[in-house]
Amino acid sequence: MNGQELVARADAAARSAYAPYSNYLVGAVLLLKDGRVIEGCNVENAAYPLGVCAERTAISKAASDGVRPGDIDAVGITASPCGGCRQWLHEWKVERVYFRRDDGSIAEYAPASKLLPDTWNLP
Ligand code: THU
Repeated sequence: MNGQELVARADAAARSAYAPYSNYLVGAVLLLKDGRVIEGCNVENAAYPLGVCAERTAISKAASDGVRPGDIDAVGITASPCGGCRQWLHEWKVERVYFRRDDGSIAEYAPASKLLPDTWNLP
């Protein structure tokens, strides 16, 4: 799947978002190297900081199915990933990242390393 197809799938995933507080619906779709596709959406909570971003929902779903860092080829997201999600994408070694910019164009980060400069690893 190319970037445009992945973001289109993310648009569909965003329809499941539970975002009654922000009304900002976000979708994220992972394409695994084995061809599987895993969707995620944001899930908010009345205790605002407990809400979960779409990217983290998708990665958590994948992790609970046994997926590990290095298994994810690409992600499509309906909007630019927040700083925390960029750290998650780094941890999970997602190789290609596509998202829709505010102007409607599709941003492509492949490789994804420029999304989060000067990353670190625990010794
Ligand atoms: N959100 C995401 O799902 N992903 C991001 O990378 C940025 C923000 C969600 C969190 C919250 O439910 C809503 O967007 C408004 O911040």
